Amino acid sequence: MNFKVQPKLIIHGGAGSSLKDKGGVETVRRSLHKVVEEVYSLLMSAGSATEAVVKGCQMLEDNPCFNAGTGSVLQSDGQIRMSAALMDGTTQSFSGVINITRVQHPIDFAQVLQGSTDRVVSDYGAAELARELQVPSYNPLTDMRLQEWLQERQDNFNKTMAGVVAQKEPESNSSARRGTIGVVALDSQGNLCAGTSTGGKGFERIGRVSDSAMPAGNYATKDAAVSCTGIGEDIIDECLAPRIIVRVGDGMTLLDAMQRSFVESQENKRDLGAIALDAKGTIAWGKTSQILLAAYHDGENIGDTLEVSEQMQIGCV
Ligand code: GLY
Repeated sequence: MNFKVQPKLIIHGGAGSSLKDKGGVETVRRSLHKVVEEVYSLLMSAGSATEAVVKGCQMLEDNPCFNAGTGSVLQSDGQIRMSAALMDGTTQSFSGVINITRVQHPIDFAQVLQGSTDRVVSDYGAAELARELQVPSYNPLTDMRLQEWLQERQDNFNKTMAGVVAQKEPESNSSARRGTIGVVALDSQGNLCAGTSTGGKGFERIGRVSDSAMPAGNYATKDAAVSCTGIGEDIIDECLAPRIIVRVGDGMTLLDAMQRSFVESQENKRDLGAIALDAKGTIAWGKTSQILLAAYHDGENIGDTLEVSEQMQIGCV
C-alpha cells in the first residue's frame, strides 16, 4: 500500500470543568489513549479516515464514562435520545441522526445515511431506519446516569447540563459539565473525516436538537475537519466547525483559523471546545471551557490535553 501522507488522529470525550481528581484524569487518559492506539493502528493498516472515525466513535460510545451511546445522559423526561453525525471531507458529504433511541451505536446510522439521498433523519424516522436495518434494541442507560437524573429531579433540574464524564461529584462541585465524543482522522491517502456523537446536554426539553448532528458541530472538507464539544447552543451560535474550516479554505493556517475563531468565541462568552486536523496533517485543538478531554496521535507519539487547565487555550502539533 502506497502511503501518500502520514495518517493523523485526534479524538475527544467532551469539555467542561475540571475532573474530580487526579484519579479521574488517569482513568480518562487510559480510556482515550486506548482508543487512539487502536484507531491509529487501523489507519496504519490502510484503513480509511471514515472507517477510523466510525471505529473511534463506536469505542467511545461503548465507554460508559462518556456522554454518548452507553452512558448517555437522560433528558428532562428521563429518556435517552442520542444524536450523531459523520462528514467525509473528500466528498464533502454530511449525514446524521437526531434523537435516536435504544441503539448501541448512533454513529452507525450516520454512516449508513452517507449512502442515502436523505442524509439526516430524526426521531420517528431514525426509529424506522433502525427497524428497517433490523438493528437489535439496546438500552444505553447506566446506573450512574440514572442516579444523576434522580438527583437533578430532586433539585428541580437547576443544572444547565449533565456531567461530561460519569463520575460522582463532590458536594462542592456543582458546576455544569459538557459531554460529547468526537473523532477526526486523516488517512494515508490524504482523506479527512469527522464524526461526533452525543447524548445531548442532559435534562433538556424533549425534542431539543444537539449541535453534534449539525454542520455547526461536525464539519469536514478536503482542507480540514472539525468535531466540537460544549454547550450546543453556543456551538450553533458560533457556527464553530464551518467557521474554522472556511477560514482554512480561504488560505489561513489551521492554527490561525483556530486562534481567530476561539478569540471570537471567548469574546462572545461561549462555553465550548473543538478538535481539528488539516490536509497537511496539522493537529489542533481549542477550548474556552476549563478542560478539554482530547488525545491524539501525531505519527510518532500519543499526547493529550487533559491537564491543560487554562481557559481559552488553543494548541497545535
Ligand atoms: N454539544 C452537545 C450538546 O449540546 O448537545
